[in-house]
Amino acid sequence: MEALLCKKVGDPTLLPPNSSESSPLVLSTSHPIPELNSPTAVRVRVRATSLNYANYLQILGKYQEKPPLPFIPGSDYSGIVESIGPNVSKFKIGDPVCSFAALGTFAQFIVADETELFRVPDGCDLVAAGALPVAYGTSHVALVHRARLSSGQVLLVLGAAGGVGLSAVQIGKVCGATVIAVARGAEKAQFLKSLGVDHVIDLSRTNVTESVKGFLKTRKLKGVDVLYDPVGGKLTKETMKLLNWGAQILVIGFASGEVPVIPANIALVKNWTIHGLYWGSYKIHRPGVLEDSLKELLSWLMRGLITVHISHTYSLPEANLAFSVMKDRKVVGKVMITLDDHKNVRSKL
Ligand SMILES: NC(=O)c1ccc[n+]([C@@H]2O[C@H](COP(=O)([O-])OP(=O)(O)OC[C@H]3O[C@@H](n4cnc5c(N)ncnc54)[C@H](OP(=O)(O)O)[C@@H]3O)[C@@H](O)[C@H]2O)c1
Repeated sequence: MEALLCKKVGDPTLLPPNSSESSPLVLSTSHPIPELNSPTAVRVRVRATSLNYANYLQILGKYQEKPPLPFIPGSDYSGIVESIGPNVSKFKIGDPVCSFAALGTFAQFIVADETELFRVPDGCDLVAAGALPVAYGTSHVALVHRARLSSGQVLLVLGAAGGVGLSAVQIGKVCGATVIAVARGAEKAQFLKSLGVDHVIDLSRTNVTESVKGFLKTRKLKGVDVLYDPVGGKLTKETMKLLNWGAQILVIGFASGEVPVIPANIALVKNWTIHGLYWGSYKIHRPGVLEDSLKELLSWLMRGLITVHISHTYSLPEANLAFSVMKDRKVVGKVMITLDDHKNVRSKL
C-alpha cells in the first residue's frame, strides 16, 4: 500500500517526500497492508486524514510524544470498512467510519478495534468526518465537558481560524455563548464574520484588549468567562486582563511556540479555574467521555449544527505542501490529505 513514513526528524515543509536524502518523509508504494490483529479488528481503507499541528511538531521531533523511527504520522481519519475479523458485530464491509489513532493514518489502510470506530451518519461528508475527531473532539471536551460553557457566557477564542480554534468558535455558538474570535489577517477575519461570530478581532489591524473592551461595553457585558487558548505566548498574557472573576482558562496548546505564565496569585484573587487539557490522554483515562463526545459531534455534523471548513486538500505525495500551509498560518479550518480519487464521497447509509 501507499504510506508516508517519517524516517528521521526534520522539517517536512522543506522538501517533497523522496526528493532527497535530507527529506524526513518518504513515500512508500509497497508498505505492507496491516493485518487484522484480533477477532474484533477492522481494516479501514482511508479516505481522508487531517493535519493537526501536533503531527507537524511530531515530525519536527518537538512533540511531547516521540515515537521510534520510522513511523507513519497522522492521527484522525475517515474511510470505508474493507475487512472485518470474525467477531466484529458493529460494522460490515462498506460501512463509512471515522476514528483517531496515535499514529499511522497517512496510509491507504489502517487497522482498529471495532470499539474504536464511529459510524459516519447518513448524509455526512466522509472527508469532513476525517477532520472531526481531534480538532472538534478537543474543543468539545474542553468547552462542554470541562468548562461547561453555557448560554449567556462570553467565550474568547484565540487562533480562532485554525483547526481547534474554528471548532471552538462553532461549539461556542452551539452552546449559546457570546463568541469573540481572535485571528490574524483580513481573510480569516472575514471568514469568521461570515459565520456570525459576535465579535472578530484581526490582530494585524486591531489591539485585542481595546477591541474586546469596546465590544463588551456595547453589549453591557463585564468580561470574558471562558478563554480558549491554543496559541500561548504574549496573546495569553494580554487576554488574561479581560477575564471576569470566576473565569475559566482552557490551556489547549502553544502554536506561538511560547508557553505562557499564568500567575497563581492573580488566579487566587480572581477565583480563576485553569484547565490543562490533553485530549488524547482521555482515551486512556476517560474513554467514555471521548466516545460520548464524538457521538454528539457526529450528530451535530449530521444536523448541520457544525460544519467542517476545509481550506486546503492534498494527496500523500504533496504532504510537504500540506504542512507548509499549516506552518505559514494559511489554514482556515482544516487542511486534509485525501486518498482515492473520488470527489465528494458521501456516506451511503
Ligand atoms: N491539548 C490538546 O489536546 C490539543 C489538541 C489539538 C491541538 N492542540 C494544540 O493546539 C494548537 C493549534 O493546533 P491546530 O491543529 O488547531 O493548528 P492550526 O490549525 O495550525 O492553528 C493554529 C493557529 O494558531 C495561530 N498562531 C499564532 N501564532 C502562531 C505561530 N507562530 N505559528 C503557527 N500558528 C500560530 C494561527 O492563527 P493566526 O495566524 O490567525 O494567528 C493558527 O490559525 C497546537 O499547539 C496544537 O498542538 C492541542
